[in-house]
Amino acid sequence: MNRRFFLALLTRLIGLGTAVAAAIPGLRLLLDPLRQKGSAAKRYRVAPLEAIPPGTPVRFAVRGQRIDAWKVFPEQILGYVWVFRAAESGNGGEPHLRVFSATCPHLGCTVDYRTDKSSFLCPCHGGAFTNTGDRIPDETLGYKNPAPRGLDPLPYELVRDETGKVWLEVEFQRFELNTPERKPIA
Ligand code: FES
Repeated sequence: MNRRFFLALLTRLIGLGTAVAAAIPGLRLLLDPLRQKGSAAKRYRVAPLEAIPPGTPVRFAVRGQRIDAWKVFPEQILGYVWVFRAAESGNGGEPHLRVFSATCPHLGCTVDYRTDKSSFLCPCHGGAFTNTGDRIPDETLGYKNPAPRGLDPLPYELVRDETGKVWLEVEFQRFELNTPERKPIA
């Protein structure tokens, strides 16, 4: 290998290396939506506490940014949650809430609340749940409950904003459907 050939080869290799290094950030940006796909738990501000009366569950939409491949959709409905606020004891403690995903763990329809029966019912195939989110047993229901597990509980936090207003923030998460175990979708 003569000296001229070696220098030409070296110059080409350096040029190639520089081009690859420059392309990496662009490639990362391009592939980012693929890496973000899935729905690991994220926290969303759902409703002011004053919109949740004690005693009867209330349904709220969870709104936030949705990323579909390379497109970003701001303020989309990502799902729904049911929020139950226990009657307060009046001792000035923090309100006690239960928050469930409104997605039926059978095949994913949105469950309704039946005030007259104080329980949740799925309109699609009759999945039924107590007002604490437990699956109602077949014997109690009188038919086979298609739901393989209870409603999926979601962690929450009550957060006070700069004006003093208290907000419910929920860690929204999707779970695999039609499995007895609760498996978060990563
Ligand atoms: S989707 Fe709810 S019972 Fe089937």
